Amino acid sequence: MIIEPRMRGFICLTAHPKGAEQNVKNQIEYIKSKGPIAGAKKVLVIGASTGFGLASRITSAFGSDAATIGVFFEKPPVEGKTASPGWYNSAAFESEAHKAGLYAKSINGDAFSNEIKRETLDLIKSDLGQVDLIIYSLASPVRTNPNTGVLHRSTLKPIGQTFTNKTVDFHTGKVSEVSIAPANDEDIDNTVAVMGGEDWAMWIEALKSENLLADGATTVAYSYIGPSLTEAVYRKGTIGRAKDHLEATAFTITDSLKSLGGKAYVSVNKALVTQASSAIPVIPLYISLLYKIMKEEGIHEGCIEQIQRLFQDRLYNGSDVPVDEKGRIRIDDWEMREDVQAKVAALWVEATTENLPEIGDLAGYKNDFLNLFGFGFDGVDYNAEENELVQVESIK
Ligand code: NAD
Ligand code: NA
Repeated sequence: MIIEPRMRGFICLTAHPKGAEQNVKNQIEYIKSKGPIAGAKKVLVIGASTGFGLASRITSAFGSDAATIGVFFEKPPVEGKTASPGWYNSAAFESEAHKAGLYAKSINGDAFSNEIKRETLDLIKSDLGQVDLIIYSLASPVRTNPNTGVLHRSTLKPIGQTFTNKTVDFHTGKVSEVSIAPANDEDIDNTVAVMGGEDWAMWIEALKSENLLADGATTVAYSYIGPSLTEAVYRKGTIGRAKDHLEATAFTITDSLKSLGGKAYVSVNKALVTQASSAIPVIPLYISLLYKIMKEEGIHEGCIEQIQRLFQDRLYNGSDVPVDEKGRIRIDDWEMREDVQAKVAALWVEATTENLPEIGDLAGYKNDFLNLFGFGFDGVDYNAEENELVQVESIK
């Protein structure tokens, strides 16, 4: 079949295997072009198939020759239906890693569950012995707590009062006003249960209890802050409470790793187009203005550039890891630059359906969105028949 993008709302129902492969290859080339990183050699990435997690896996493998185990939740291809993009990304990653002589295995299933944790621990035990870096990069709308069996759903709501602001439908380019009613306490608790630090701590506890953490092991989870423009719906909303919890969990985990000399960090990353961020109201308009300014200033980065900088300049810089007053690594430093934010804020006031293609980078947004699903890459023949269903031995 010829695979074309089929959009429904904020998602694309199809994904392109060759495009996903090109995406992975481009990221690998970027990492190789930046030279070796004196990083970890045995790496577990939880949420390894797309976005920041995929970039972390690629950076470890091709920057530091690391053996990697990736955990993710993706759909394999079935007759007449493409896989989810992260499945193709992971298949391509494994194939490239194996060609380069690197150990790479993946576990496809619910990382929140006891079963997938058990499988992962067993794989580490049998194949790697221990791990020295654990990247925690899950983004999910739901989590079943394995101890209580309760299914929690996260929400993206303001807290305290209704939030009204501009937003854009990036498919049509229509700028409109959106109002979001405030969360109740249950919404807050549920969002913290899904996107807070509880599961991260469970993973590290499980690894530690079975002696699978090397001395000096490091673990990193990803967070976001963003500007005052998006504060009501992001950092001071339900998701922000979850990020507060995640950031606090870093300290608890660090305490628990004292005897190993280990450390937990949160890295605050830049706003980027991913499946997760596209679904948040207001954020796509902010991102399209931000991209415009950052590209003009020559400081735009995607996931791979961000993570390369995180590893090279922050985590493995040969010296102390620089952190802010709250102990967080900041690779959102260029996004948050005062001059950048002042320009975005000025454009925000002006933005309309008519002028957004000019004053914002709507085209860049759309292109990045297509790229998530393996579409829009140079060097891929999108008119070719793609009828072989890829099966990959090492993705469990
Ligand atoms: P993403 O949607 O690209 O990646 C999410 C990953 O989690 C995928 O690998 C997916 O398979 C996996 N996953 C989801 N549910 C799972 C489950 N139940 N079991 C196993 N795997 C599961 O998201 P992303 O944007 O890369 O986000 C990763 C982290 O980075 C999140 O904590 C997010 O808040 C943070 N972050 C994102 C941005 C942004 O702008 N996108 C900015 C800063 C920080
Ligand atoms: Na990820």
